[in-house]
Amino acid sequence: MHSVISKQNSEKFYTMKQVGIFLFALVFSVVLIASKPEKKYYNELYRPQFHFTPEKNWHNDPNGLVYYDGEYHLFYQYNPKGKEWGFMHWGHAISTDLVHWEHLPIAIYPDENSEDKEYCTAFSGSAIVDEKNLLGKQEGDLKTLVVFYTSQHCGQRIAYSTDKGRTWKKFEGNPVIPYDETDDARDPKVVWYEPSQEYIMVLYRKTSADDKAKGVSFYASDNLVDWEYKSHIFGFYECPDLMPMRVTNRPEETKWVLFDGDGSYLIGSFNGEEFSPETAKLKSDYGKNYYATQTWSNIPKEDGRIIQIAWMRGGSFPDMPFNGQMTFPTQLELTRYNFGYQVTRKPVSEIELIQDKHYNWENVKIIPGINQNIVKKVKGDCLHIVGEFDLKSCNTLGFYIRHSKKETGTELLYDVKRGTLSLLGTTVPLIPVDNKIILEILVDRASVEVFANEGQAVISQCFNPVKGAEDLVLFNSGGEVVVRALDIYKIKSVWGAD
Ligand code: FRU
Repeated sequence: MHSVISKQNSEKFYTMKQVGIFLFALVFSVVLIASKPEKKYYNELYRPQFHFTPEKNWHNDPNGLVYYDGEYHLFYQYNPKGKEWGFMHWGHAISTDLVHWEHLPIAIYPDENSEDKEYCTAFSGSAIVDEKNLLGKQEGDLKTLVVFYTSQHCGQRIAYSTDKGRTWKKFEGNPVIPYDETDDARDPKVVWYEPSQEYIMVLYRKTSADDKAKGVSFYASDNLVDWEYKSHIFGFYECPDLMPMRVTNRPEETKWVLFDGDGSYLIGSFNGEEFSPETAKLKSDYGKNYYATQTWSNIPKEDGRIIQIAWMRGGSFPDMPFNGQMTFPTQLELTRYNFGYQVTRKPVSEIELIQDKHYNWENVKIIPGINQNIVKKVKGDCLHIVGEFDLKSCNTLGFYIRHSKKETGTELLYDVKRGTLSLLGTTVPLIPVDNKIILEILVDRASVEVFANEGQAVISQCFNPVKGAEDLVLFNSGGEVVVRALDIYKIKSVWGAD
């Protein structure tokens, strides 16, 4: 009897001990959570969490995109003096995976010690790896990185680095193309042309004072220093880019593609001197914030991708220490459809490196009414959404992004009868395939990018969502829609430790 009582007591004792431990752990974790310092670095209201921004000040165009020895270089138009355009320098960052960026010191300063807002400042341009040491600057085994930039009103110039982009020197023979006050030339993009073993420079210029003469001039050089004018094509403005692209579904076929500053492009052929278009100018992005596109040079053959990034011109970042953001890097592909050739654009696969919590739905029928919102458990301000929707009999289908009880949020709407996709005042045609559409969406704190039908129609747009509105709604009107597959990932911040 005695032993039974004592056993009962000890059971009771252990239970109380357990409760004690539990309470202690609870209080301890509450204190820990409360005392955990809030992430300060890159955590402002409209601070992009997985898009590139400099820590502070104004930036615009991406410049000098080049891959070398495991590092993607991203230079950008940068005003170290403030949040407005002017006093352009080249800011610099590097990445080993296109998503996590490390800031490096300013790479290119204005020429002639200019303190002026424009004169001799470092405008846009491009970069190459000097494989053949044509500039003669190579030290040891490391190849020289060479950038071509416009020194505003001071000609097209070269700077180079013999230490993987850590320090930069101006070329002593600058400018390599002298300033011509009539032609407004700028934004040299230099590419290798295999057949003639020459470099080609595509340069925005106007051939006369007439605005209609705005276009792109082609120059060739076999030593990176002496550039010979070859031809001019009208109807282009700023930041050109040029490259051969293999047609994905016709691997034996390669076309040349000439890009304009807004990402629109001509498909055609290039013979080392002249570009001959075979299409009308095609639009690459329908959004309001896609500009100054550029692709990385020297991507290894084994990779073979064409990777483009752009400045989200026109975005607003109220009360932020910075002003501007880049798009998420995208992979370009050239495909031959039954209606003709088209360049498609999708986020680079490295997005997977920053995917966090995953939600998935398959073959779910949805019927009208917001209460049917199947994605209501998804909350957050940084999302990667990929969905295939069988339109069945519905009239409209869409998402409310950054929604809350009080805020509708931002509507992304597909109108089935019209065959259009709309976001933030931009409407684009989108033709379903087998009555299905595919939407891939990147949501960050200040931008939404939508890549529809495998990147055939893209909308890149900045926005200023309401603080705290972090719900997502999937809705339709009219008849039913079947969500064939929907994957939603929360996206981790790429900036600093949490
Ligand atoms: C495009 C652009 C370029 C120029 C640069 C100056 O946004 O106007 O033509 O080089 O910006 O910042």
